[in-house]
Amino acid sequence: MSDVTIKIKDREGTVHEVQAPTDMAMNLMEVCKAYELPVEGTCGGMAMCASCQCYILSSDIPLPEMGDDEDAMLAEAFYVEDNSRLGCQIPITEELDGLEIELAPES
Ligand code: FES
Repeated sequence: MSDVTIKIKDREGTVHEVQAPTDMAMNLMEVCKAYELPVEGTCGGMAMCASCQCYILSSDIPLPEMGDDEDAMLAEAFYVEDNSRLGCQIPITEELDGLEIELAPES
């Protein structure tokens, strides 16, 4: 399997079901941008801007542990919830198939 399906709810509440490749070393932020969803990714995926913040709606999908950089950035970001993650810190892997996320408001 080389593509996984991810559902992304935008800030208007519209759900976009997208296909993301697992073999191109992409992360969730880059997938959002590839589908022209309104994710800035200002820092280029360095966990330094939080513009890729999203809320994880699925509870049954195993995600990579949060790293120190992501943890520190989310401690300073706006609109952070318990299920907040930085999209750029989540690589696209087969485990993500069926993941549902929601874009956090722009800060
Ligand atoms: S793109 Fe900047 S923190 Fe993710």
